[in-house]
Amino acid sequence: MGRVYNFSAGPSMLPEEVLKKAAAEMLDYEGSGQSVMEMSHRSKVFDGIIKSEEALLRELMNIPDNYKVLFLQGGASTQFAAIPLNFMNGSNKADFIITGQWAKKAYSEAKRYGDAKVVASSEDETYSYIPKTTSSDFREDADYVYVCLNNTIYGTVYKELPDTGKIPLIADISSCFLSEPLDVTKFAMVYGGAQKNIAPSGLTIVIVREDLLGNARDITPTMLNYQIHADNNSLYNTPPCYTIYVCKLVLEWIKSLGGLEKMKELNEAKAKLLYDFLDNSKLFKGTVRKEDRSLMNVPFVTGNDELDAKFVKESTEAGLVNLKGHRSVGGMRASIYNAMPIEGVKALVEFMEKFEKENG
Ligand SMILES: Cc1ncc(COP(=O)(O)O)c(C=O)c1O
Repeated sequence: MGRVYNFSAGPSMLPEEVLKKAAAEMLDYEGSGQSVMEMSHRSKVFDGIIKSEEALLRELMNIPDNYKVLFLQGGASTQFAAIPLNFMNGSNKADFIITGQWAKKAYSEAKRYGDAKVVASSEDETYSYIPKTTSSDFREDADYVYVCLNNTIYGTVYKELPDTGKIPLIADISSCFLSEPLDVTKFAMVYGGAQKNIAPSGLTIVIVREDLLGNARDITPTMLNYQIHADNNSLYNTPPCYTIYVCKLVLEWIKSLGGLEKMKELNEAKAKLLYDFLDNSKLFKGTVRKEDRSLMNVPFVTGNDELDAKFVKESTEAGLVNLKGHRSVGGMRASIYNAMPIEGVKALVEFMEKFEKENG
């Protein structure tokens, strides 16, 4: 079988150029006579990789000098605990907007450490929209406000950030990382797992404003203390070296395409193809309010469970894989991250047209 178009929510497709480069460098990375997989994280060669990767990320995302970039492990889920341990350190209050399961999990974890409050939620309509808030909804003395920027399961995204006034804003950007420009200065911290848009699984990137560090609770496990990782340039312990290296290749790929403005343009073109089709289809229907639609994750249904299952089966046979929706939404979901070529989305739309003709 040739390569498929993989619409998985993550881990997901990587750019073919990146995979080829990684394959070509597998046995001998830049004349070192070894694979990055085999290399000491204390070696000069790896030091070059992680440093140039951080520089590239700073350049692409326009990250100011007063923010630390940390390359960690443990996934986004580990940060659900690390965030309260590091930042619930003033009033012990944190306010949450619940836009899906990931925000809810972050909230549940924070509740174990302090006064976590749900300020708004879209659970009433299966998280199919982004709830509106104003600055007065948040507790003035909250240590931070927490949001999940792009909701992988439900396919919603914040087009406009909540106004939190002076309260630091923390966002999970796992499923929209590097998909378009993001003004980092609007946040106290953004973070995400790399396995959707950036790299294979195993790497979590944290971008955090320096002045927020240094006040972690005493009970904070060393490995969850951001200050420790910042002080050690993400080399306190062995980092996920190979994933960090693939991440560097992906960042180079994004830069070669023209950076995040270009990435946004490409992602908008892909998403438009799919949403336009959904808006005109008599069989398929998008599940999200139009104004909150994600560029990255597109859930859709036929309204008939048997037909949905047939669609998933037949699309898989046609080389369009992992289109089954999350169990909490049902139906289908196409995740069309940076590395999904427009040809993949065209192939999906053509398949949907054909399926509609045969089953509509
Ligand atoms: C938005 C979001 N946050 C958090 C997670 C959990 O990430 P991890 O598996 O890296 O812990 C996911 C996983 O899909 C996600 O989509």
